[in-house]
Amino acid sequence: MALVQAGEVRLNVVERGSGAPLLLVHGYPLDHSMWHGQLDGLTDILHVFAPDLRGFGKSDVKPGTASMEQMADDLARLLEALKVTRPVILCGLSMGGYVAWQFALRHRPRLAKLILCDTRAIADTPEAAAGRRKTAEQVRAEGPSAAADALLPKLFAPQTYQQQPQIVEATRQVILRTHPAGIGAALLGMAERPDVTSHLAQIDVPALLICGQHDSISPPDEMRQIAAKLPNARFAEVASAGHMAPLEQPQAVNAAIREFVAD
Ligand code: MLT
Repeated sequence: MALVQAGEVRLNVVERGSGAPLLLVHGYPLDHSMWHGQLDGLTDILHVFAPDLRGFGKSDVKPGTASMEQMADDLARLLEALKVTRPVILCGLSMGGYVAWQFALRHRPRLAKLILCDTRAIADTPEAAAGRRKTAEQVRAEGPSAAADALLPKLFAPQTYQQQPQIVEATRQVILRTHPAGIGAALLGMAERPDVTSHLAQIDVPALLICGQHDSISPPDEMRQIAAKLPNARFAEVASAGHMAPLEQPQAVNAAIREFVAD
């Protein structure tokens, strides 16, 4: 683990393995540890980088708004600081996917392939954006448990709550350790994120879309439609997984990633 200066922020990053570079971008309000199944299971073929985005994990916290564009630019600066010149395979989950769209649109030369897990292309509705602003205020007043309570019941497949309660608890602990200002900034950034649907046709890198069968936040049908709008995409549904497919079913997700990167 290392703290790396990436423009105006220092980002914590775990780096492991060798091969083509794979950059793993976590969801909200989590950190790099959600990728431990990929850090354990893919480093024989890939050089894996798993940073904490600004405001999360051990990275610097900047109050205000953390836009998806800003977080994408942070990642480009991180790669520059780490001297990764080879275009990366970028894999983002949910909010990490919102950041991945912006990376694809703003830093195309740095991108070889795209993996989008459990994410959306549309913007928030006005009601959803207002809900995020309210949660940001609540987190500022009451701490991160407000975010954990709102999100944890929606993140996993029914069988994950029953058969892998340790994953649910570990995720709760990650959220509870997160700085309220970091959570608030990401919420405001997601609330104002752009709809990228009209840009999908120009994202021409090979793309793999992965979605948990029981994902209620970014459901499989919605992700299938995104795949259909991308020029060069395939879709994989992961059985017995919800919104956190890479964490819930790492073997199935890693198998899909292996097949995709081998092509
Ligand atoms: C995430 O997992 O990153 C969040 O569910 C994204 C969101 O709230 O839109």
